[in-house]
Amino acid sequence: MNKKTSAIIVVHLFGKISKIKSILNLIKNKNIKLIEDCAQAHGTKVANKYAGTFGDISAFSFYPTKNLGAYGDAGCIITRNKSLSLKCKRIKNHGSLIKYDHKLIGRNSRLDPLQAVVLNEKLKTLNSDIKKRNQLSKIYIKRLSILKNFIKLPEIKKGEVHSFHQFVIICKRRNPLRKYLKKNKIDTMIHYPQMLSDMKIFSNTKDVKKIKFAKNLGSKLLSLPISPDHTPVEIEFIAKKIINFYT
Ligand SMILES: Cc1ncc(COP(=O)(O)O)c(C=O)c1O
Repeated sequence: MNKKTSAIIVVHLFGKISKIKSILNLIKNKNIKLIEDCAQAHGTKVANKYAGTFGDISAFSFYPTKNLGAYGDAGCIITRNKSLSLKCKRIKNHGSLIKYDHKLIGRNSRLDPLQAVVLNEKLKTLNSDIKKRNQLSKIYIKRLSILKNFIKLPEIKKGEVHSFHQFVIICKRRNPLRKYLKKNKIDTMIHYPQMLSDMKIFSNTKDVKKIKFAKNLGSKLLSLPISPDHTPVEIEFIAKKIINFYT
């Protein structure tokens, strides 16, 4: 953060609330806007307040794989700021609020009504889906906590509601573990296989070396299976295989 900083984007990654209170303190009395990326954080809360309600403006993705996912691309922006809201409405509709009232160059980011119908239906089970994700996460946490020397598990602090879009562990011997699980017909994912600095578009960015810590962490992350469609028995099985691998 420096004199030129005009906005900060926080990402509530994997469904865990970010250090939102510290960030709010950091920008207190400064002319810095807060943008929340809630793509993975539908239903995430801290102190009874939802992710997306702390910042000046927040974005949610309804991409099909998300906790609340449409059948195709979709998303939404929320804000309490009237002029920002109107500007977003204009941008998403080629710069126009009503027909032939184009005041800026926008784009077509209108939500397809068919996707809205799907989302309205799926919204009804969002809370119970998050509950299921939490129940399954509890099994992972209970079983895998004996592997303290090998695995760091997600932490849920007091007052936080994690929506467990992903269940991500930091583990030793990540790639051999992944191979072993695959052999046992358990698919895992790596979020993310590339750091931003590894991407061509940022190859000329000055501060790339500064993300050394993230790079090191990135080589240890593993996303274990989790979804409302998994059963406790399946999660117990996966946990057992992970314990077998390390012991
Ligand atoms: C953290 C995060 N931010 C932003 C996005 C982008 O969302 P969309 O693909 O709906 O634009 C995603 C989607 O994968 C995401 O996970």
